[in-house]
Amino acid sequence: MRTHFCGELNKSFLEKEVVLCGWVNRRRDHGGVIFLDLRDKIGLAQIVINPETKETFKLAESIRNEFVLKVKGKVIARDSEMINQKISTGEIEVLAHEIEILNTSKPIPFQLDSADTSEEVRLKYRYLDLRRDEMQKRLRLRSKVTKYIRDFMDKNDFIDIETPFLTKATPEGARDYLVPSRTHEGSFFALPQSPQLFKQLLMMSGFERYYQIVKCFRDEDLRADRQPEFTQLDVETSFMNESEITSLMEEMIKGLFQEILNVSLPNKFSSICYHEAMKLYGVDRPDLRIPMQMVDMNEIMKDVEFKVFSGPANSDKGRVAALKVPGGASISRKQIDDYTKYVSIYGAKGLAYIKINEDGPSSPIIKFLGDEVTQKIIKETKASNGDIIFFGADTSKIVNESLGNLREKLARDLNLFESEWAPVWVFDFPMFDVEDDGSLNAIHHPFTAPSVDSQTLLNEPEKSLSRAYDLVINGSEVGGGSIRIHQSDMQKTVLKLLGIEDDEAKDKFGFLLDALDYGCPPHGGIAFGLDRLVMILCEADSIREVIAFPKTQTAACLLTDAPANIPKAQLRELKLKTI
Ligand code: AMO
Ligand code: AMP
Repeated sequence: MRTHFCGELNKSFLEKEVVLCGWVNRRRDHGGVIFLDLRDKIGLAQIVINPETKETFKLAESIRNEFVLKVKGKVIARDSEMINQKISTGEIEVLAHEIEILNTSKPIPFQLDSADTSEEVRLKYRYLDLRRDEMQKRLRLRSKVTKYIRDFMDKNDFIDIETPFLTKATPEGARDYLVPSRTHEGSFFALPQSPQLFKQLLMMSGFERYYQIVKCFRDEDLRADRQPEFTQLDVETSFMNESEITSLMEEMIKGLFQEILNVSLPNKFSSICYHEAMKLYGVDRPDLRIPMQMVDMNEIMKDVEFKVFSGPANSDKGRVAALKVPGGASISRKQIDDYTKYVSIYGAKGLAYIKINEDGPSSPIIKFLGDEVTQKIIKETKASNGDIIFFGADTSKIVNESLGNLREKLARDLNLFESEWAPVWVFDFPMFDVEDDGSLNAIHHPFTAPSVDSQTLLNEPEKSLSRAYDLVINGSEVGGGSIRIHQSDMQKTVLKLLGIEDDEAKDKFGFLLDALDYGCPPHGGIAFGLDRLVMILCEADSIREVIAFPKTQTAACLLTDAPANIPKAQLRELKLKTI
């Protein structure tokens, strides 16, 4: 139908006859001459219709935005004052002598080039939203990313194997999406939260290097970087240890950044252990573009009169920490109130501060702390004139979350980033999280190998570390994996510590426990959040910007109106009743 693409035309095509197809991006009537910007997958070309071409001109008068056209014409040079340097086709235009309207369009519900269309409207009319240049670029970039990854995996001898979607629960810490079975009344499939168990089984089958770009399903609270169905680059290997796996994956990530952004990431990514990350940054996904670090104040605050500080400083689970913000003394009272509100989301009961001005430290809490303690604080935090020091005092969990997130918010508000890219591996996670009632939860998943033997694990589960690793880029957890347990005794021990007794273990993971007994190789792997990687590569604020048809924050699809009620007959067939 076409001879050329609109977006590929330039001066080298002058005097050429072309046939173009595309959408009318904009129609302008300049009294006597009609201009159309015709858009295709490559870009825009300006079409000119002169009144001399009578029939074509008449037709052009009826054309509206988003009509689909086939245009025959000649490429000519634009008058010098009409040249548009902003677009690659800006030096030429196409003088139309024939136009065919392939389809008309109703006026669309929003301006494609308007920046303030609500996300609700964009998602409802996603097929129109995806016509926008920005969305086209993002999805094309995403496709380049998967192409690069597939090539890399292929070159490194990984094979792509599909694993089932209709399966049994795979515990990754979220709720499952369930699918009722018609043929097994009252039974349900679970959609996989990840292919974790299947990829381990593939190692037991002797494939040694597996990968898959695969959908995962998790019913959890959504955030800017979480979707109920999302895509992983899922990887598993046999006979490789953590440093071999992370080095290979690091090579892939470096190559990806080079290929997509022409950015050279550091030759060797830095690494940090979990405890250090929590101590210095309050989170297990530290954004190392930001130079600020939290400073422990427990020792200094043990004997102060101010109970807000001395309480947590003397408690086992408590923490008092300071965060010095260079140049922060200019932060206003109102802004401090806003930051106080911000940390309250994470449970903080307040946000004490000390400003360091030319005439010394000033703060409502100095009178409770005394000069000596104030001087110690200034020394420990290395604060100087013009800085502000914020304090968190509560349980470690609340202090870490509130100051950790405040650190990132301050960096965004005051532009405190020191570098553009900061990839870091986080190692030495604890095996378990201890709940208030003393029960244990797996920090990664229950198949992650501990770095200690069974006896030590049984004696001190809460102190034991795991062989897990996460890759964090600019404060976003883009990937996580581990060396797995490959012996059934150890697997049973871990399940038992998690409160899963033998019968339940057999019922839930019997197939895995059995498989471990038939010559299971040592193995390990990792999974990357593909959507998150793409989000970082195109600097999008939300994961929804890099997914063609995403769900809303409440896990619904505004385009198709899913989830939806289903006909009674269908429920009956599934032997289901809603209450
Ligand atoms: P994990 O649960 O850490 O590990 O997931 C791996 C990566 O997937 C991304 N991710 C998400 N992205 C978008 N929306 C979500 N709801 C979501 N949840 C997770 C993150 C995360 O780092 N089976 C293990 C991997 C392994 O051990 O090999 C797993 O799934 O970027
Ligand atoms: P108050 O004695 O409650 O007026 O608090 C004095 C200062 O300490 C205020 O700036 C509060 O924001 C701050 N503050 C109160 N509780 C905490 C806390 N748990 N952590 C940090 N600062 C706090």
